[in-house]
Amino acid sequence: MSGATLFPPELVPVLDPAGPQADPIAKLSWVLFIGSGIIFGIVLLALAVALFGGKWRRRIANDKFIIAGGIILPVVTLTALLVYGLTVTAGLVSSEDRDPVLIHVNGEQWWWRVHYRKPVAFTSANEVVIPVGRPALVDLTSDNVIHSFWVPQLAGKLDMIPGKVNRLRLLAERAGVYYGACAEYCGGPHAFMQFRVIALEPTDYARWLRGHAAPAQVPTDPLAIRGAALFQTIGCGGCHQVRGTEARGLVGPDLTHVASRLHLGAGLLPNNRGTLGGWIANPQQLKPHVKMPAYSGLSAIELRALATYMDGLE
Ligand code: CUA
Repeated sequence: MSGATLFPPELVPVLDPAGPQADPIAKLSWVLFIGSGIIFGIVLLALAVALFGGKWRRRIANDKFIIAGGIILPVVTLTALLVYGLTVTAGLVSSEDRDPVLIHVNGEQWWWRVHYRKPVAFTSANEVVIPVGRPALVDLTSDNVIHSFWVPQLAGKLDMIPGKVNRLRLLAERAGVYYGACAEYCGGPHAFMQFRVIALEPTDYARWLRGHAAPAQVPTDPLAIRGAALFQTIGCGGCHQVRGTEARGLVGPDLTHVASRLHLGAGLLPNNRGTLGGWIANPQQLKPHVKMPAYSGLSAIELRALATYMDGLE
């Protein structure tokens, strides 16, 4: 892989919850870390006594110690943990939301197809944009293999299972860009199947919705115009959709507003004119097994024209 990739992207703040769906999970995790740390300490202590304990060894070598430490302690600890875990996570499954945002995400190999449904319906990819303080109900599906949708700062993992619809509730309490990844091995570039959830303040969100529901910008720059023509003639539209143009392919990600996305290749590369050109020329090298073929026959100027056109699709 080249040094330009964003993988691993950053230290993922798994225990820094930004909403009420992730909060109890972080709490429970801390209880488990600390509790298991203490128990591990006790076990090590017992082991040390058993090996080097001198006269103390006799004290633990009896039925009473075995019954107390081997049966009673685990039963009490696990029962307490079960009750605590069920109590602290009880709120995760109930959702009586008024006026939620509705989104449908389908796991693809190896990217995310994002259908916004309500308040406005349109399609995008690899980023899930939600308003701060308003719940988003995300229906998770797959029509290929099992994927798992995980955005640790906002919610627990939820699998995307062919033939099933799993609903996840996302609620961000502060604006931000939250890292997400596929958490279930789904073949080849599973590790490069990442996404972002972007939580925007309500006014920014309304502006974003208007912009993204609209068809693609018409290029004005001569190089971009050439790129737009090339996009049609070399067949990009067979797999990609650019709303407002002839390109209506549904195999790959919707590119109507591709330039507004932070990354290319599902979290693989930062998104700019240079990486766009590099991706078009040789996606296989950047993300092995990706279904997009390489367009290595394009001349440098053709690549630049295409990348300029894409880079203008904001
Ligand atoms: Cu999709 Cu792993």
